[in-house]
Amino acid sequence: MCGNNYRKNYPMAAKCIENFSIYYGDCLDVEPVKKPKLILTDPPYATGKVQSRLGGERYADKETAEQISDKIETLCEKWFGVDTTLAVICDYRLAYPLVAKLTKFGLVLRGEIIWQFGLGAARKSWWPNKHNHILTFTETEASGQFDPSAIPRTKRIAESKGYPPDKPLGSVWEYTFSNTHSERVKYPNQKPLALLEPIVKAHTFESDLVFDPFMGSGSTGVASIRNGRRFIGCDIKKEACEIATERIKKELSNGV
Ligand SMILES: C[S@@+](CC[C@H](N)C(=O)[O-])C[C@H]1O[C@@H](n2cnc3c(N)ncnc32)[C@H](O)[C@@H]1O
Repeated sequence: MCGNNYRKNYPMAAKCIENFSIYYGDCLDVEPVKKPKLILTDPPYATGKVQSRLGGERYADKETAEQISDKIETLCEKWFGVDTTLAVICDYRLAYPLVAKLTKFGLVLRGEIIWQFGLGAARKSWWPNKHNHILTFTETEASGQFDPSAIPRTKRIAESKGYPPDKPLGSVWEYTFSNTHSERVKYPNQKPLALLEPIVKAHTFESDLVFDPFMGSGSTGVASIRNGRRFIGCDIKKEACEIATERIKKELSNGV
């Protein structure tokens, strides 16, 4: 049912013969066998602090934006195919150095979605930081797949003149992922499926391969499997690999 190569054993050749494969270790040590259609990832935020979630899992977020950008560039050297799309979820700390790094490397920045999350108290030391950037890159202006029907829809306020009752969201997506949401697994910086599923659906076809090198609790994996895509994920934390494996297996058994 599932291709689960969960292990820490360098160097690792990432195969995804069946539904999914999860690798425990540094993402730079995983070698692709096949180029993914989509690299969808949410790397550490370069906050310099340990990230924790409601007494659940923790991970050290000690690398600088420059170091994380370097890693993503190295990942792109190995994993980017002619029709791959890279989507990176990050905040202002990583967004600007990463765009500079990857455009110099030769990728094309194709667009940006802003996720306004609303949750949590706004910081008082500076302007509030209540949104993430979702940056998308391809090899050229013409490469990469995009299905506009994947754009989430929002209720149309003025329903006059026979327009349909809803319309596609713009480039700012407002969505609160509450602490008590049923998807929550107490993993720091866990991303909601409502954010990830449209990205998976827009940039891949069924059975295509999705890769998340900084997988955390496996939300990208769940979004991929739920939509009939295959998934390779990696995390340097064993607990993340365990949580992700359990979530994806549960998703597969629900879908049967
Ligand atoms: C922001 S979290 C991802 C959260 C995830 N999107 C979710 O929904 O749970 C970033 C993850 O990157 C992992 N990480 C950091 N450095 C890594 C590396 N070099 N290789 C693989 N994983 C790494 C951390 O352990 C952490 O789980």
